[in-house]
Amino acid sequence: MKSVLAIETSCDDTSVALVREDHFVECCLVASQDLAHSPYGGVVPEIASRNHSLHLLPLIDEALKRTQKSWDDILGVAVTNRPGLIGSLIVGLVTAKTLALAKNKPLIGVHHIEGHILAPFLKDETYQGPDFYDQNFLALVVSGGHTQLYQVNGYGHYINCGETIDDAAGEAFDKFAKMLKLPYPGGVHIDRLALQGNSKAYDFPRPLLKEKDFSFSGLKSSAQRLLQTLTAEEIEKEKANLCASYQKSIVDVLIAKLERAIDQTGIRNFIVSGGVSANSQLRLEADKLAQKKKCQIALPPLRYCTDNAAMIGLVGLLRLQKGETSHQDIAPIARVSL
Ligand code: KG4
Ligand code: ZN
Repeated sequence: MKSVLAIETSCDDTSVALVREDHFVECCLVASQDLAHSPYGGVVPEIASRNHSLHLLPLIDEALKRTQKSWDDILGVAVTNRPGLIGSLIVGLVTAKTLALAKNKPLIGVHHIEGHILAPFLKDETYQGPDFYDQNFLALVVSGGHTQLYQVNGYGHYINCGETIDDAAGEAFDKFAKMLKLPYPGGVHIDRLALQGNSKAYDFPRPLLKEKDFSFSGLKSSAQRLLQTLTAEEIEKEKANLCASYQKSIVDVLIAKLERAIDQTGIRNFIVSGGVSANSQLRLEADKLAQKKKCQIALPPLRYCTDNAAMIGLVGLLRLQKGETSHQDIAPIARVSL
């Protein structure tokens, strides 16, 4: 069976994957840049693109070596070409174009969000995603850069059912983590601290709870105002309670939007993906919602929640199977909806 070689460099993680025709991930390598950006408390675009150029070719060599594949086994080269940091996208796209041209393989430009939507349908040695990607389902994509809810009318047909009007959910986690002086990216640290805290200890707002769109900047400001009333010692002592309460407010909003969409559309399949879908409380509440509404749910394993090339490979594969390829002149695009 042949495979797609996939490249993801849209933000700060360099990733290369080989995804087989049956959706099986043969190899997915990620060179995280968290340590490089951590001192700045956020992604520095110039540092991200420089690191992509250092890591990308060695990762491609390593992926081919580990899977013992040659270029004869490669169906095509899939690459994220939109949206993302322009310098980061350029590194992946130019590399993919060069390889496709030199090895005479089709090139497939992929939208990063479409990758996140397809991530729960990957398969590997320990994860067997479901197969409802070509049926109707709802997709909540929550990451550091995006908070979007889609109605998917079978693979390739996306209707936007709501999005953030300001900060993304991941940004809301990361900014609160920064206020608490937790390492970057902060979502996972809030998640861990929240496990020991009481989510009812503080009453944070649940913005736009009944609306279609999301908003997290008011939540962030309210957290900032609360922290200003506390001493450094009090914050330290209350850290777990603060994290649990803040996290609960984000999770409540995300689940409420999903429930609203399930009720309005009558669709009984849903997925949650993107970096924030690694959140343990969100996964728990999403499972509960699926039970309550008798829905089929798919949550990617943690390795496919955050940015990875396997999800890009799956989109590339499905495109190729439909006979669709991209032209060599496709451009990197910083901002574009799906
Ligand atoms: O999908 P991703 O790797 O990159 C983007 O496309 O943005 O998502 C990264 C985001 C960060 O904001 C990070 O804090 C958040 O996902 N994140 C989490 C958790 N793990 C990662 N947020 C909450 N809880 C987690 N366990
Ligand atoms: Zn992402």
